[in-house]
Amino acid sequence: MTNRIKYLLLVLISLVSTQIFAQSNDISAKVEELIDQMTLAEKVGQMTQLNISVINTTGQQRDVYLDPEKFIPFIRDHHIGSFLNGEAVPGDVWYEYMNEVMHLSVEHSRLKIPIIYGIDHMHGASYVANSTIFPHNLNIGATFNVEHAKNNAIVTGMESADLGHHWIFAPVLDLGRNPLWPRIYETYGEDPHVAEVLGGAYVYNLEHNPEIAPYKQTATGKHFLGYSDPVGGWDRTPAHIPEQQIYEFFVPAFKAAMDNGLSTIMINSGEINGIPVHASKEILTGLLRDYLGFEGVAVTDWADIDQLVTKHHVAPNIKEATYLAVEAGIDMSMTPYDLSFTNALIELVQEGRITESRIDQSVRRILTLKFKLGLFENPYPSNKRLDRIGAPEHKAMAYDAAVESIVLLKNEDNVLPVANTAKNILIVGPSANSKRNLNGGWTLAWQGGEEERYPDDVETIFTATKKAFPNAKVEFIEDISSKNLSAIVSKAKAADVVIYAMGETPYTEGVGNINTLILPQEQYDVIDATQNIKGSKILVMVEGRPRIITDMVDKVDAVLFAGLPGNEGGKAIANIIAGTEVPSGKMAITYPKFAGSFYPYNHKMAVYTPSNQSQEEFASTTLYSFGQGLSYTTFEYSDLKLSSASLKKNGTLTASVTVKNTGDIAGMESVLWFLTDKYASITRPVKELRHFEKIKLAPGESKTVSFKIDPMKDLSFPDKTGAILLEEGDFTLAVDQFSKDFKLVD
Ligand code: BGC
Repeated sequence: MTNRIKYLLLVLISLVSTQIFAQSNDISAKVEELIDQMTLAEKVGQMTQLNISVINTTGQQRDVYLDPEKFIPFIRDHHIGSFLNGEAVPGDVWYEYMNEVMHLSVEHSRLKIPIIYGIDHMHGASYVANSTIFPHNLNIGATFNVEHAKNNAIVTGMESADLGHHWIFAPVLDLGRNPLWPRIYETYGEDPHVAEVLGGAYVYNLEHNPEIAPYKQTATGKHFLGYSDPVGGWDRTPAHIPEQQIYEFFVPAFKAAMDNGLSTIMINSGEINGIPVHASKEILTGLLRDYLGFEGVAVTDWADIDQLVTKHHVAPNIKEATYLAVEAGIDMSMTPYDLSFTNALIELVQEGRITESRIDQSVRRILTLKFKLGLFENPYPSNKRLDRIGAPEHKAMAYDAAVESIVLLKNEDNVLPVANTAKNILIVGPSANSKRNLNGGWTLAWQGGEEERYPDDVETIFTATKKAFPNAKVEFIEDISSKNLSAIVSKAKAADVVIYAMGETPYTEGVGNINTLILPQEQYDVIDATQNIKGSKILVMVEGRPRIITDMVDKVDAVLFAGLPGNEGGKAIANIIAGTEVPSGKMAITYPKFAGSFYPYNHKMAVYTPSNQSQEEFASTTLYSFGQGLSYTTFEYSDLKLSSASLKKNGTLTASVTVKNTGDIAGMESVLWFLTDKYASITRPVKELRHFEKIKLAPGESKTVSFKIDPMKDLSFPDKTGAILLEEGDFTLAVDQFSKDFKLVD
């Protein structure tokens, strides 16, 4: 670089940073000016978030029609700063509603402070009718392709920002480490590195999306933190997580999201180690503010201050619960139906138990967010770009994500892809002709919309298979109860191919609690009863978490984990079966073998100890491993190299490997790099994913990919205080079935 270019670059950098600095100074001056004029009630109102059902005409979630008579007093008399929720209605209905909400909120607020509106667009703008619906995050994890996390965020913005949806309650940054937990599908899987890379990309692209100008949106890191690992697997039940593990597993995704500009977090509704997180100063101030340096807004989850009284029993009444939560560090309460929090907080300040400067601290964060989002300059939604909703180019992105998210786990004798000469295809199981099952919860409505609310052009596995095999007779049977078993068997005997579309029906949160990972018996019975047919047997698991299929997989020829692939999933599955698409997904969560014991791939070394390895059933609890997934082509890894056999703590080491497509069709391969620390002062996982990259290879093509190992980032680990330890010693790097050892020296 010439000196002149260097000089110009420096000038440019300093201009940009001066501008950012001036902008934030400007915002902070405006915020202080407002705070100076605000009454206590106005401040506390900003800290309150209420549900749509208290301001719409019927009190129903689905009703996106404002009742001004209900709404105006909340603004004029109680100064409420935020509202949330709704269900999928068309863009123009959302526009009318938000236009009225924003006009009335500005007009009736003494200081003209606009409200901020929050909504659960979890996989695309999933509460807008006819929008593009991406796969859920567990599937995005399985793509191991950061582009899909990005596209999910960008498309969500393009299909909702104009409507006045300012605050997107995504992404879930929890780790899916307990397969019973009903929110597994909302996570990027079990691995902290996958969650940090994909979650970080989602946050950055949601919060920095030039396509939605003049609007902006904020993401929400959910649910801070440790929510996903309850002891019993049920939602919002106690977790016992050693502090060291909190830092090692649960902090990284939030930290990465914060490094990518995350503006808000939502708090874990459960308790960790005996303290409900909403009442934990240690977590909400110590960890969140002091350790992680988060300056954004911390909102409670649904009714969680109430729950400190009614569920956790750490406070006798709402007032004491409010005291605990505000002192712990919350900024806003998703109350969500009444003014109990607002009134209690005003009283607590008037009694001198909470200082007004503590209130100012939260109001400052909330107003800063509103300024950053441009709500003061640009409060009103727009209906000029409604044609973006469900645009074909967005659906094409969701389709690509769905294709790459489906994992081929078994393909005996290459039964897949099915030849286009197949004459008779039978699809059996609860997901054979269902749109809602492919989408799961948080789609159109909290528990997943009813089948008839899905757009006509969304394909099911059945309708898409008919299109993919135009010359075949394709039939489906959804009711697999015992009374239908003999009909299923006789049709299956006549079929060249039977596709079993098994798994789960939609659920969200605690509604999806289960007592066992075992599926309904009828799903096993159908496979048992048809195991001796002549045709090929393909098991497709449509499910939000890995349910036990151990007894099924030996009785079928092929297994596809479809997860919850979204509206484009039916087409993606059928096209993979027909071979017009080549599978490239890899499991982002370990598929457990048993209903009773399961471990994530990055478990401690002592899980399988020498004494119990002698008994085969204790040697592994895994049916399909994290990172496992086949293709219709084959990839050969070779020439794994390390730039040196030892590495200094302040040095770097480069690893490289060559990957060749040895088959005769093009395919994509996610290259997963794992590291193992052979001994350390705190027991280490057997292996840890530290880098991944997805490449596309034409037949016969090879590519050399590399991974630069940075000791502080890749070889260190936290202790129980979060201090980072970097210990000398022996490490192993592994990719595919190859590995190399190296030493870390001082
Ligand atoms: C869920 C959150 C969600 C919120 C608002 C809660 O019950 O835990 O993930 O964002 O409701 O709908």
